[in-house]
Parts: sequence; C-alpha cells; structure tokens
Amino acid sequence: MLKGRHYIEPLDLSKEEMEGLFGRASEIISKPDEFRDLCRGKILATLFFEPSTRTRLSFEAAMLRLGGSCLGFAEPGSSSASKGESLADTIRTVACYADAIVMRNPKEGAALLASRYSEVPVINAGDGGHHHPTQTLTDLLTIRQLRGEIGHMCIGFCGDLKFGRTVHSLVDTLARYEGIKMVFISPRELSIPDYLSTGPIARNQVEVHFTDSLEKVIGDLDILYMTRVQRERFFNEEEYIRLKDSYILNKEKMLLAKKDMTILHPLPRVNEIDLEVDEDPRAAYFKQAKFGMYVRMALLSSIIA
Ligand code: CP
Repeated sequence: MLKGRHYIEPLDLSKEEMEGLFGRASEIISKPDEFRDLCRGKILATLFFEPSTRTRLSFEAAMLRLGGSCLGFAEPGSSSASKGESLADTIRTVACYADAIVMRNPKEGAALLASRYSEVPVINAGDGGHHHPTQTLTDLLTIRQLRGEIGHMCIGFCGDLKFGRTVHSLVDTLARYEGIKMVFISPRELSIPDYLSTGPIARNQVEVHFTDSLEKVIGDLDILYMTRVQRERFFNEEEYIRLKDSYILNKEKMLLAKKDMTILHPLPRVNEIDLEVDEDPRAAYFKQAKFGMYVRMALLSSIIA
C-alpha cells in the first residue's frame, strides 16, 4: 500500500511495489479512460526551487489526467522563500492546502527535511546532486516497455556521473535486479561517487567496469544512458568548460553500437547527443519523457487516491 507514503529515495519502494506501479502505468497507457477520475477533488502542490520542464509538467499533466488539480510555483522567486521563509514553514503551510507535495530543491536532503514537517505525502523531484527517484521510475518503465524486462542487460552510464542525480538513483535501484552489468564512462573528475561503489554495487555484487572511452565499450551495451554535464553543480566555470563536451554521441559512434541498443537520456540535453541521432530508431529519450507522465500517474493515483 503506497497510500499516504512519502517518496524521498528510490529504495523507499520495494521491487514488488515498483512492479505494481509499472503494471498500473501499463494499464493507464492501454485504458486511460478508466483512470481519468481517480484523483477528482484532490490537489497536488508542485514546489520547484530549481528549474524543470519534464518533471514539473509531467507531474502536473499526470494530476490533470487523473481528474485532480494543481497549484504551486515554478521558481522560488515568486514564493515567500524569497523573503526568507524557511523550508519547514513553507511545507507546513502548503500541506494545509494540498493532498500531496512534489518538491525539487537544490539542497541534498531537502526532501527528507520536508517530509518531516509535512502532514501530506512528499515526493522528491530532485534534491541537489543526490537523488531523483521518479526519474528512476521513468527510466525503468521505459526499459520494461521497450525491452520487455528489467534485468539481464549491460547498461553504460556516460557523462557526469558525479553530479548526475538521475544516475545515482538508477544505479541504486538497478543494483537490486538480476544479471545487471554496469559500465561507467566518464572523465576521472566526474566519476561515480564512492558511496555507490561501496554501497549498493558492492552489496549486490554487481559486475562493473570503469572507462573514459565511449568508443571502446559502446559495442558491449544493451542500454546507453547519456547524461548532461551539470553546470549548476560546478564551483568553477573553467572546469565546467573543460569537461562539458567530454562525450558527444553521433552517427559515427552509433555505427559501433548493437543494432538493438536503447539510448536513454533523462534530458535536458545540451551537446552530448548530436541532433542527427534523434532519427535513429534506437533513440528512446522522447518516449522516455512520455513514459514519465504515465508512471507519475501511477504513482500519484497510488499515493493520493
Ligand atoms: N529529467 C528531468 O528531471 O528533467 P527536468 O529537469 O526538465 O525536470
């Protein structure tokens, strides 16, 4: 039962609970009319202290398609946070008006803090460079829909593995599945945090490889998970400029890939996937953005309705 629960970190849901959400998302995709009144009379607050296109709008679209309503803000400048109001007071207040809160915040741990002050469920829509659990639901639903199963595959994570919260949440979750091999492709400066290598990867004895060359490993991959270099998390602009174009996926590199490799990207993209790759049938990142709405419908209807 997910009703009334917070969702702060990916492992707040068991594998069985996630499978239940994917099953519900599949039903929503095939029979949307059966779900259109599930959240009628309910209100979702979306509080975004950092920019977003997909996460905020897909949550709002999800709530509207379930018959519910939305309120909130897309940037903190239009809220009383700009006058110095604390996060705790903002959350206590919004919990008086809404049945659930979706929040993105630049500070790691902000969603956990919010959940401690909220009388309604809080869903983490990204806390700094830490976690983005509903992006993981999006990624896994996409893999399940397009490849038939989650597991028994070799997945390459490419780009900014240090600051990319979508990578952190997906690695943490995928480590629980059978037959997963992970290949981490990054410059040394942007490598995956140690707590993931010593935590879920070691605990689940996941086979991992590390490299700085996409060309050398692309032919081994079933899934390539590209990521943007996260400019907003760098302390030093020169360092960002030096690293930002470390990897650019183009037609030439795609010639080295398996014929059925799936390309995922949480988006937004900057330069890391050339526009010419969008026409390749293996490019799945816009389908992924759409699956994000369906899995958020499944999540909201389970938590709120
Ligand atoms: N994937 C993702 O979190 O996108 P947005 O930043 O646009 O929400």
